Amino acid sequence: MILAAATLLGLALCGAACAGDHLYARDDHVQEYMGIREQPRVPLRPPHRPLIWGDLNIIHTTDTHGWLLGHQKLSWAEPYYSGDLGDFSSFVTHMKRIAIEKDVDLLLIDSGDLHDGTGLSDGYHGGVDAHESNKFVGRLPYDLMTIGNHELYVYADTYDMYTNFIPHLGGRYLTSNVNITIFDSDGKSESVPVGNRYAKFTTRKGRRITSLGVIFNFTGNVANTTVQTVHDMVNEQWFVEAIAEEPDAFVLIGHMPVSYDSWPTVFNAVRAVHPLTPILIFGGHTHIRDCQQYDGRSMGIESGRYMETIGWMSADLDAAKGKHDNITFTRRYLDQNRVTYEYHTHTSKYAFDTINGRSITYGLQELAARYDLSYLYGTAPQDYTLSQNPYPSNGSLLSLFIDHAVPYALAINNTRDSIPNIIIINSWALRSDLFKGSFTRNDQLTVMQYKDTFLYIANVASGIASQILPALNNPPAMKQKRDETEDELSRKTRDGAWLEEIDDRPGVDRREATSDKWTFGYVTKDSCPNAGHADDTLHTALPYYPAPYYIGSNPPNVTADTPVDVVFLNYLGEEIIPILNRLQKNKKYTMDDVSLYSPMLTSDVLGLYAQAKWN
Ligand SMILES: *[C@@H]1O[C@H](CO)[C@@H](O)[C@H](O)[C@H]1NC(C)=O
Ligand SMILES: *[C@@H]1O[C@H](CO)[C@@H](O)[C@H](O)[C@H]1NC(C)=O
Ligand SMILES: *[C@@H]1O[C@H](CO)[C@@H](O)[C@H](O)[C@H]1NC(C)=O
Ligand SMILES: *[C@@H]1O[C@H](CO)[C@@H](O)[C@H](O)[C@H]1NC(C)=O
Ligand SMILES: *[C@@H]1O[C@H](CO)[C@@H](O)[C@H](O)[C@H]1NC(C)=O
Ligand SMILES: *[C@@H]1O[C@H](CO)[C@@H](O)[C@H](O)[C@H]1NC(C)=O
Ligand SMILES: *[C@@H]1O[C@H](CO)[C@@H](O)[C@H](O)[C@H]1NC(C)=O
Ligand SMILES: [Zn+2]
Ligand SMILES: [Zn+2]
Repeated sequence: MILAAATLLGLALCGAACAGDHLYARDDHVQEYMGIREQPRVPLRPPHRPLIWGDLNIIHTTDTHGWLLGHQKLSWAEPYYSGDLGDFSSFVTHMKRIAIEKDVDLLLIDSGDLHDGTGLSDGYHGGVDAHESNKFVGRLPYDLMTIGNHELYVYADTYDMYTNFIPHLGGRYLTSNVNITIFDSDGKSESVPVGNRYAKFTTRKGRRITSLGVIFNFTGNVANTTVQTVHDMVNEQWFVEAIAEEPDAFVLIGHMPVSYDSWPTVFNAVRAVHPLTPILIFGGHTHIRDCQQYDGRSMGIESGRYMETIGWMSADLDAAKGKHDNITFTRRYLDQNRVTYEYHTHTSKYAFDTINGRSITYGLQELAARYDLSYLYGTAPQDYTLSQNPYPSNGSLLSLFIDHAVPYALAINNTRDSIPNIIIINSWALRSDLFKGSFTRNDQLTVMQYKDTFLYIANVASGIASQILPALNNPPAMKQKRDETEDELSRKTRDGAWLEEIDDRPGVDRREATSDKWTFGYVTKDSCPNAGHADDTLHTALPYYPAPYYIGSNPPNVTADTPVDVVFLNYLGEEIIPILNRLQKNKKYTMDDVSLYSPMLTSDVLGLYAQAKWN
């Protein structure tokens, strides 16, 4: 089936047999490794049609979260995201050459969230998160970058960006509404922008650009960092001055969704002064492919997550100069793989890699080896997904985690093991699917990189304890939760709403979809013209099932008055205690009733389980 389809599309098929079929002498291990990479391990559908270039063009990444070696699993649609940062670097180099041949401008932009996501960023031993992996990001010729909320949860991470990463960007790492508090040379505390608040620069073709770098109204940032609301930012004197002069285009970047968030606040502030100046916006944070046009002379895109998507925007600025006409924009969401890259750069697989690209790939492999990321815990018998299978079900990662892995891991060396319990976690603590095949240290950190602990409240009557989970998931509690941690929940909600929407499209034949997984991938319906035609490679949408926000282990089979332990993740105590006090009046619970249940960290659970059950 797959073979037939691939042949129809004119793909050259190549298995292990042609892995060595290339022109390079294998005189060092970089080439040895690259010899394997030249061919995707499975045939991939190529892009649908060439990119449309304008006179100003942008390549966009966002929310890469450490996925610099790309997606390495063979379950669909993972191979469509199998490029790595070295491949991307080669792509950018070729695209820059093509831009010069076409005599047009090409910029490279990133919208933040470099931290938290894979072993490359989170597998460090006693260092700072993403310090090493960011060195590779720094080797790409980014014209503009900005800060994400994942750069702001741990002070050491923000400080590392401030001292080690940002200085290499030459004033083009923009943080218009984010400050860091540091000690000045006299030892006094001082709040300063983490990067630059804005940048004005001239492109190769002489276009004058003004840029800002804005984060959404984020409130979960660590002490000694400051996030100003977008609304307050646009009223600052520096902002008014920065946008006063009219450039040829505003290129606004930000860790902020292009839909349902504060971009209109920034857009309107600029428009009020410059009614016709082109405005190009590059957002992020909700991990989706999305597009908005705020008027006929502006466009904003958001380019997904986890190195799955490379965003593209082009604009014909010269044709609209001095006129009131709408500007012609295009946008495209590219699948991040070598077939995509070679297609758009007209290169063969043997001529594609640049020296810098190869060296980045090799360096990332070395880092993975240094962090021992291929350490094998066991072999997963099947895929366990966050949203491609219903919860509860045996294909649900949430079911695997809460019904099997957590109870197993928490019972190890635990004196309370004999006391019945109910374990409660938030489902968005799990960050990525777990795929069939080897389950390594890298996979463990990718699925759950956070190092949280489990706490408990003892002696709660089983009949009361079993009502906590339904209460957490009921709408008023959700409303409160949403206000507190708008960030992660908004990601989950909007991601979900969007995936649900594409899944409900008429005309998707479920049976065909499940029998031909080779076609699985993103099917995007955004709000810009030609919605439904912005995905670069045509796919069938992956199945989507929504999951509850909170999940719990199966209640023990005991009478309602039997005392049980209520076990939960360390940050859920403040939500569970008020609920417990509402459900019963015999005792007024406080945080003093909460103790450590086990010293085990959430990031260790799946490794322990895999070691015991998947060998
Ligand atoms: C950060 O804040 C704490 C108190 O909140 C203070 O003691 C510390 O000196 C601050 N650090 C810096 C770098 O300003
Ligand atoms: C950010 O730093 C600048 C420069 O020190 C300061 O003037 C400004 O008040 C700070 N902004 C915030 C929101 O703390
Ligand atoms: C951001 O904060 C401002 C000021 O508090 C508020 O008016 C605005 O609605 C907020 N934006 C969003 C998207 O929550
Ligand atoms: C220009 O763009 C606006 C906003 O996208 C749209 O409403 C309008 O119809 C367009 N005008 C023309 C002449 O295409
Ligand atoms: C999971 O459920 C499916 C469908 O009910 C079944 O075919 C499969 O064998 C089950 N897998 C396991 C590991 O139990
Ligand atoms: C459990 O205790 C044993 C014996 O003290 C120890 O070797 C083992 O590492 C412990 N396991 C875990 C997961 O802590
Ligand atoms: C629960 O326990 C009772 C009494 O021991 C037993 O009869 C019943 O079958 C158990 N139910 C389940 C679902 O295990
Ligand atoms: Zn993100
Ligand atoms: Zn984010």
